[in-house]
Amino acid sequence: MDVDDFREAGKVVRRTLRRAEREISVGDDLLEVAEYLEDMIRDEGAEPAFPVNLSLNEVAAHYTPGPEGGPEIEPGSILKVDVGAHVNGAIGDAAITLVFDHELGERLAETAREALEAAIEVIRPGVTCREVGRAIGEVCRERGFRPVTGLTGHEIERWNLHAGVSIPNDDLPGYEDELKEGMILAVEPFVTTEEGDGDVEPGRYVEIFSVKNPNQRSRVNLRRIYEERRSLPFARRWLGSSASKLELLRLSRVGALKAYPELVERNGEPVAQWEHTVLVTEDGCEVLTR
Ligand code: CO
Repeated sequence: MDVDDFREAGKVVRRTLRRAEREISVGDDLLEVAEYLEDMIRDEGAEPAFPVNLSLNEVAAHYTPGPEGGPEIEPGSILKVDVGAHVNGAIGDAAITLVFDHELGERLAETAREALEAAIEVIRPGVTCREVGRAIGEVCRERGFRPVTGLTGHEIERWNLHAGVSIPNDDLPGYEDELKEGMILAVEPFVTTEEGDGDVEPGRYVEIFSVKNPNQRSRVNLRRIYEERRSLPFARRWLGSSASKLELLRLSRVGALKAYPELVERNGEPVAQWEHTVLVTEDGCEVLTR
């Protein structure tokens, strides 16, 4: 397999997250942050593989601002910055958690980061997805926290963000697939408190969609989106005024689009996330987004 494009996409993601870490601060508007980071991905010669996800506090994933603007970052919050870039469909996907004056949030973020490192340590051909999940779950419990098992890591293929096997965030039955050399995996521990449920539920808020049927009639030019990015997710705010929320929800109901509503921790507890994309090698893995 040609991994050069995946390495390049990973490098763009790494640079974008480094800038996010340096420059995002309290008072920033999330719409400006999202546009800034997506512009950086394009300036680096890649395209966003999905809208930059900027999920606050108990929102675990799939929040991106709408065209009318996002909330500002307030003190006492934690922000998951999940960034994807693609080069000719080869995707890099990684995430960090930024903490703004939130002591519990610091410990959750540190735990997610350590859980990811523990997962990376065990990844090699022949290891099962379940064993990787076990490493993640153990770190979470040792720190007195709970892994979010309602979310999983995922295999990546060209033009396909969620392909093949899934990597659970704990030692769970049903994830017995063995890793193979050459697989590309996005590993993403999500961690919440012991008071957390450990699962997520869809909220009412949805701004992220992907094309399932480009031939459906609509004011929104589905064919053009599909030609540009196939079924990679996009943000409503990328489409301009033709794409009302009502029209995108209608297209989701008839099966032309897939909607990705925000995913919220069921008990409303804060969630931290850390993520890297890795390539499984002969005797371990290469972290493509580090
Ligand atoms: Co991600």
